[in-house]
Amino acid sequence: MPEGLIKSLRGVDLGVTNVAAQARFYTEIWRLTKVAERDGSIYLRGSGAHHHILALHPRPQAALLCINLAAADRATVDVLHKRVASLNAPALQPPAPVNEPGGGYAFTFADPEGRTVRVIAEDQRHANARVEPDRPHKITHVVLNTPRQEEVAKFWVDALGFSVSDRSLLTFIRCSSDHHSIAFHPGESSSLHHIAFEMADIDSVMRGAGRMRDAGHPIEWGLGRHGPGNNVFAYFVGPEDFVIEYTAEIEQVTDASPVRAPGDWAYPAGHSDLWGATPPPSARMKEAQKKIRFAPGPFRP
Ligand SMILES: [Fe+2]
Repeated sequence: MPEGLIKSLRGVDLGVTNVAAQARFYTEIWRLTKVAERDGSIYLRGSGAHHHILALHPRPQAALLCINLAAADRATVDVLHKRVASLNAPALQPPAPVNEPGGGYAFTFADPEGRTVRVIAEDQRHANARVEPDRPHKITHVVLNTPRQEEVAKFWVDALGFSVSDRSLLTFIRCSSDHHSIAFHPGESSSLHHIAFEMADIDSVMRGAGRMRDAGHPIEWGLGRHGPGNNVFAYFVGPEDFVIEYTAEIEQVTDASPVRAPGDWAYPAGHSDLWGATPPPSARMKEAQKKIRFAPGPFRP
């Protein structure tokens, strides 16, 4: 089981070349809500409690800047900082107040492949959190490409108390009862595979897919149901080639849930999910899934 030090994936910071256009897309089409704007950056919430789940920062090229993890409390931030320091993680910054909308107390470090991770507690939460039809309530997982997935997954387990939920082609790790909050996908280099936003139900996934189609972003893979995680999915290529997913019905894992191995997920020929109704992932999406890199160096909003 996860150690419970990290409670959830709060969200991600993205570098984008056109913050205004991205913010328009993520509010009007994707249906997040703007909560703050500062120094050219825009902060967006889902309908869940986190102050924001997606932050858009002006950068010369699209990049994944930071993965934000919500710790149980301030004392846990200090405990995890010591633990990460003992593992000699690079680019370690000590715990300090967060000078950004939403505030909080956090430390940052880089994982073995240079991904900037921020562990944050005591940040603001919304009192009106709820699951609403046709609106993402949270970012439920981020999938990352890596040439050494078991080594990196082990680091996340050792450093942050995640546990491995399942292995297929990917390695899935969790920090809560959600089947995975992070997964590692084999890749030639370290990059972003996709970001998944959780919707209320399948109807919400499909309403979102219709809106995306109208906006020029057809489904690139889906509608389907994954084996690992058992979640329903629809994948899209968003502005600046970020691959984003609407998902629902993610499996809730317990102590009794088996940890399965790659050989446990054989689909019939021509199928890429449990239902077999969707064509395989589009070539366009597969190309986009190699493009978004991590920005080097420490994250500064
Ligand atoms: Fe996903």
